[in-house]
Amino acid sequence: MIEFSHVGKSYGDLTVFRDFNERIEDGELVIITGKSGSGKTTIMNLLLKEIEPDTGKIYLKRRCLSDVKTSEIPFYRRDIGVVFQDFKLFDDRTVYGNLEVVRNLTGGNRKETERRITSVLTMMGIDRLHKRRPKELSGGEKQKVCMARAIINNPAVLLADEPTGNLDPESSAEVMKLLELIHRQGTTILLATHDFKTAESLLSRGRRIDLDQRSSSGYSSSGISVRERNSLEQYPT
Ligand SMILES: Nc1ncnc2c1ncn2[C@@H]1O[C@H](COP(=O)(O)OP(=O)(O)OP(=O)(O)O)[C@@H](O)[C@H]1O
Ligand SMILES: [Mg+2]
Repeated sequence: MIEFSHVGKSYGDLTVFRDFNERIEDGELVIITGKSGSGKTTIMNLLLKEIEPDTGKIYLKRRCLSDVKTSEIPFYRRDIGVVFQDFKLFDDRTVYGNLEVVRNLTGGNRKETERRITSVLTMMGIDRLHKRRPKELSGGEKQKVCMARAIINNPAVLLADEPTGNLDPESSAEVMKLLELIHRQGTTILLATHDFKTAESLLSRGRRIDLDQRSSSGYSSSGISVRERNSLEQYPT
């Protein structure tokens, strides 16, 4: 359902991907690992159409992303839930309000909205916090709100970019458990992390794409092939 076909992406003279190919089936759970700068966030941004590939094609639900018009992007993004390291919650709204604003974008009546918000907050184990504002929550609690927000409209795909980057080990483990729960309900999940240890518990449900491994067997992030680099190293200037 998600496919990267011969994708190339550079920022100026930094080539992050030269020929990236990957297929992710419906309902898969994929852990994307790689050191800082290996391109994890770039993959997320390409899928969100925040950025465009230089070459190659990306498909989501058989639709080529280059065919999604700029005016359609907000609708396109509604089928993708996102969780970030730095939460990105509205500070002036309550937990309930943060979910309501996202739910209202897709219409539906008030009773339904209320039911759905209660249901996802209960699923994340934080219904009791619905009246709090983000500044009254711990990091782990904030991230649970973000996960509730990400799934409120039943997206087909959930992108989680370093969701545990700001959390202690205990909260991180809870976030992993909740991702597992969301996955069990049929959502396709892409989880990016530089710390595979935290996500290892999810491996039984999914698979790992290691961008470091990929670059060492193909192209390095500097854009030259490993073979080219090795031969350069043999002949230092
Ligand atoms: N808008 C941009 N302009 C220029 N360079 C960029 C831009 N976005 C990313 N890069 C560079 O591209 C490379 C890949 O970035 P990306 O954010 O995808 O890495 P990452 O794997 O998510 O790293 P981290 O683990 O630190 O989040 C990095 O070297 C980064 O500096
Ligand atoms: Mg990143």
